[in-house]
Amino acid sequence: MEGSEVKEISEGMARIKTYGNVFYNPVQQFNRDLSVIVLNAFAKEYKPESQTPWEAGTKYDDGIIILEALSATGLRSIRYAKEVKGVKEIVANDISVKAVDDIKRNISANAVEDLVTASHDDATMLMYMCRKERRFDAIDLDPYGSPSIFLDSAVQTVKEGGLLLVTSTDMAVLAGNSPETCHSKYGAISLRTKACHEMALRILLQCIESHANRYGRYIVPLLSLSADFYIRVFVRVFTSAKICKQTLSKLSTVYHCTGCGSFVLEPLGVIKFNEKNQQIKYGLPTRSLGGSCQHCDHPHHVGGPIWNAPLHSPQFVEKLLAEVPQHLGTFKRIEGVLNVIKEELPDSPLYYTLEQLSGTLHVETPSMIMIRSAILNGGYKVSYTHMNKTSIKTNAPAKFIWDVMRIWQSKHPISKKRSVKSTPATTILGKSTDFEVSFEYNAEANPESKKLGLLRFPQNPLPNWGPGTRATAM
Ligand SMILES: C[S@@+](CC[C@H](N)C(=O)[O-])C[C@H]1O[C@@H](n2cnc3c(N)ncnc32)[C@H](O)[C@@H]1O
Ligand SMILES: [Zn+2]
Repeated sequence: MEGSEVKEISEGMARIKTYGNVFYNPVQQFNRDLSVIVLNAFAKEYKPESQTPWEAGTKYDDGIIILEALSATGLRSIRYAKEVKGVKEIVANDISVKAVDDIKRNISANAVEDLVTASHDDATMLMYMCRKERRFDAIDLDPYGSPSIFLDSAVQTVKEGGLLLVTSTDMAVLAGNSPETCHSKYGAISLRTKACHEMALRILLQCIESHANRYGRYIVPLLSLSADFYIRVFVRVFTSAKICKQTLSKLSTVYHCTGCGSFVLEPLGVIKFNEKNQQIKYGLPTRSLGGSCQHCDHPHHVGGPIWNAPLHSPQFVEKLLAEVPQHLGTFKRIEGVLNVIKEELPDSPLYYTLEQLSGTLHVETPSMIMIRSAILNGGYKVSYTHMNKTSIKTNAPAKFIWDVMRIWQSKHPISKKRSVKSTPATTILGKSTDFEVSFEYNAEANPESKKLGLLRFPQNPLPNWGPGTRATAM
């Protein structure tokens, strides 16, 4: 300890010190605050039979057991001990000796010895040793970079119906900068699309599901978030060989047009219900090979497989919104983001962005309200996603969206100088318009979360924010 720099950190109900080069990133307070409220809601849902009215900071024998597998300073575990109601025990583990020294000191400085135990182990070894006799109700994986190497042990060591809380910070890999690396880590090809943050979430969920499936288990996502430089998912894990058969139909290949950015999702499996014998039949989809983009005639890139089932549980999001404590440091942000998530269309994976549509056609950008009105006036649904300020998530067919843009362009003609032959723009604008399009103001185009003036798309939290540097104390 001598000569090493001491940093004092105060976050939520925890006051901690770190002595060595142990990892701490203040920007991730949002991640920790959110995990606190998710664990509170999860504990209530998971242990409904408990008769005791739980309080935070007290040990309950019928409470939940949490493993923080990569704990660094212990901050997160200490916050869980002091802020989550209904805890029996928390194990704060790290592979680094210096980190474990910090964890031990911080446990006693915060007087949570009855709730938090320090552990010095490789997270994977610890989980493998616990997967039979001593499983956990919740396992938090918060690595620097990809969590992929921890998933095989985590999906086995979480109890039936238990919760996995997983962070990924290797966004460049997940967002299409290195599809090869993404495939080797996550078993899926990432694409450089405007909807890359949602692709990233869906690749991570696909990866957790595939690990779970190996042990006859499957996931149910409660909440999936993209924030700052990372993604974070909260999924419950259940066991059923029968439901594992449905996984194929929860996964899709993504065809992404290299010209106009339109995307088509093709499920890997289909489920048919036979009315006669009331039985489910699993099958494979049939498809005709190839073909270029029907909008701009350019070829596609093929990515995935991605998770094509819902990202969140609407009931769980409602529960969270009902119980976000106002004193949390990032309360305003949590309230804003959860409200936008509540409004996200659950069955329309991926999204367009406003600039993508106008940029492809080199046309003046319409207002968000106009585009949203046109989609609603056409009888389709539209929403934002919390992942992008100019996102357009819709169940309208891509042909309708390009019709909207063609009509918009006819009223705001493209400059002659910029129209070059055989670009996606010239091909799209050369095609006929089939749908009727009205840009008349539609009151529903303005979402509740915006009317309420919530903090929906927060700016970068700190100057020079980012994933921080990998801890050197290993
Ligand atoms: C990003 S930090 C964790 C931050 C912490 N969860 C928080 O919220 O402040 C990652 C930690 O994982 C530890 N680590 C890396 N590989 C590990 C392994 N195989 N087993 C256990 N810990 C590991 C590192 O020493 C580092 O302290
Ligand atoms: Zn195209």
